[in-house]
Amino acid sequence: MASSARSSETGEDSIIRLIDQAPQPVDMTRELLEGLRASQKSIAPKYFYDEQGSRLFERITRLPEYYLTRTEIGILRTTVQEIAELAGSGAQRHSGKPVLVECGSGSGEKARILIDGVSPQAYVAIDISKDFLVSSCEALSSDYPDLDVYAVCADYSQNWDLSEVLDTDARLLAFFPGSSLGNFEPDEAAIFLSQVGQAISGRGLLLIGIDPPKDASVLEAAYNDSAGVTARFNLNLLTRLNREFGANFDLSGYRHKAVYNQIEARIEMYLVSKRDQEVRIGGDRMFIAKDEAIHTENSYKYSYDRFVDMAQEVGFSCTRYWTDEAGLFSVFLLSA
Ligand code: AVJ
Repeated sequence: MASSARSSETGEDSIIRLIDQAPQPVDMTRELLEGLRASQKSIAPKYFYDEQGSRLFERITRLPEYYLTRTEIGILRTTVQEIAELAGSGAQRHSGKPVLVECGSGSGEKARILIDGVSPQAYVAIDISKDFLVSSCEALSSDYPDLDVYAVCADYSQNWDLSEVLDTDARLLAFFPGSSLGNFEPDEAAIFLSQVGQAISGRGLLLIGIDPPKDASVLEAAYNDSAGVTARFNLNLLTRLNREFGANFDLSGYRHKAVYNQIEARIEMYLVSKRDQEVRIGGDRMFIAKDEAIHTENSYKYSYDRFVDMAQEVGFSCTRYWTDEAGLFSVFLLSA
């Protein structure tokens, strides 16, 4: 994948380095058409995060029903000292402060907790939403003028190449919060974890947020909020396809649906067609039947045992595990 580095200077004390490995529009069009032509139509969840989608997701994280973000932040705040001690110890040859690498950095709110507590020498934020990534990294950089901030615009589900930013000897703290691992199919999740494991092997730790299975009513409320923000977030996919990929979806022809699949332990999100309709995407046309559902997201929930088994299978050992009092969310510190 082509990559280019440039400096982005917006103010005297906010200089970040941008490494742009954003997916190419032609590849995205091909992937979208493939998903929409399949017998179960689908749009991959990474397409949620255009600028408006990233903004809507930030609103989701503050919804009363969406317990995930606030619970994880609570866990991080109470454990960050312990994390700092563990991240600072280890093999002698990897001395000094660690580099914090965050996958799916979003607003950077959680990173700030770790930056305050762990005081890393550098922060590498990886996110697919370029404008959002750059503005949150710039804000972070102006608040932490002595921190090296790298903004890597990339689809972290693909192979990411951090050779441009990571010096070979730095200790690493990889951070994958929010239960975003749940967006992968379980076999892909294991592959992704094993790649992270290889990257940090012998030189660092992975701090990862996982959402355990719980009452369907709690889960379904979190993905069907009463203010309708998740519905707007889901429907924004169609707005984005209309704007960026030459589609003509009629947004009033679809409704948001989120259900918990107990057997697979995952939330499934769909856009359901309210009527028979035809849609154009660039030069292509396709038919969507009344009640046909376009799958837009799986969000897998992992119990302690299931997650630890998967992590151990790809070579991790579990250093620490934390949860909140109600057991709503969990944070694991793994070594490889
Ligand atoms: C960003 C993947 C963790 O699955 O909870 C929130 C995305 N989708 N509401 C999740 C999401 C609908 C979120 N992750």
